[in-house]
Amino acid sequence: MDTNGTAFRILCAIGLFFLVQFFYVFSKVERLDEGKLTLEAEVLMLERKRDLMRTKLNDLERETYRSEKKLQSVENRLRDHLKLLGSSSDKMPMIYFVTPTHFRPSQRADLTRLSQTLAQVPNLHWIVVEDADSTSSSVAEVIRRVKLPYTHVNAKTPTDMKMKYEDPSWKLPRGVAQRNVALAWIRRQFASLKRGVVYFGDDDNTYDWRLFSEMRAIDRVGIWPVGIVGGLLAETPILAANGSVVGFNAVWKPERPFPIDMAAFAVNISLVVEHPDAGFDYSVPRGFQESHFLTSLGLAPKDLEPKADHCTKVYVWHTRTEKSVLPKAVAEKVKSHADGDFTELEADALGIDL
Ligand code: UGA
Ligand code: MN
Repeated sequence: MDTNGTAFRILCAIGLFFLVQFFYVFSKVERLDEGKLTLEAEVLMLERKRDLMRTKLNDLERETYRSEKKLQSVENRLRDHLKLLGSSSDKMPMIYFVTPTHFRPSQRADLTRLSQTLAQVPNLHWIVVEDADSTSSSVAEVIRRVKLPYTHVNAKTPTDMKMKYEDPSWKLPRGVAQRNVALAWIRRQFASLKRGVVYFGDDDNTYDWRLFSEMRAIDRVGIWPVGIVGGLLAETPILAANGSVVGFNAVWKPERPFPIDMAAFAVNISLVVEHPDAGFDYSVPRGFQESHFLTSLGLAPKDLEPKADHCTKVYVWHTRTEKSVLPKAVAEKVKSHADGDFTELEADALGIDL
């Protein structure tokens, strides 16, 4: 009986143990369920927060975009103001930028690119000399659009000195009559002109804005390297340790007094006025125009003032626009462009006055 009683008690204890365990597990599951619900609620809340943040982010992005646009327009206005300030500054020497230009298919394109480079330069007076019987309204339009002080004149190359479109580019000197007309205009107007420099800037070269700051700081004649010219990647004067010019690296006709390109120098306007006969000439040997002009101003290589960080920087390149490849009939039509039959669009591309 005793044994039975003990067995019963043990059974009861075991039963009780499992009952306790059951309730324990049950309550845990219950709590887990609750936990799950809380977590689900939290996830929902976080999702809602995420959506809210997304909307806020979108709003912020939109605002940033709007602010950037505003900033851009303020920057533009500021730049315009600075440009105006610059162009009315009496302290800064003027640059008289002389560009001979002649009609060919790419003239309007080349002049557009040049005009938009010059448009950013303060205190620059652009002297454009058209190689033609008269000035054209299409060139005038390109010049006027950039709102620079300018002079627009014409000077036709004498027929026997005028190259044909098919001629090799080196056959005859270019820009001679045009640059002389510009020099004559400068001398005539000098009384009303400002202190400054004269630079011969052809219509197809590439000019870095930094070139213009360099040339303003010239006493008599400044010189700097030119990129891609005369068979060299960079043509430059050679400087001694003390910074003076002692030679040139030119390989094409190095025997020239100044074996340099037209784009490599600028001269003080006072020199031009003091030497009324200085200029360019059809009779000088090929490649000697620069040397002829500089010697006619009474200059020697020792007078050259090296610029562009002691001639260690290239701020101008003698780029040349490729001759436009066109069918013969079209090329012929372009040549006699005065009476050619062009569509309005073609005339606009070429800058032909219809
Ligand atoms: C090189 C030099 O960079 C020129 O400054 C120089 O006048 C020329 O050689 C030369 O030896 O005469 P390059 O590129 O060969 O220049 O010459 P172009 O660019 O064809 O002509 C120089 C300037 O004269 C240009 O602005 C061009 O539009 C103008 N030009 C050219 C005319 O006004 N009429 C023409 O018949 C040809
Ligand atoms: Mn050129």
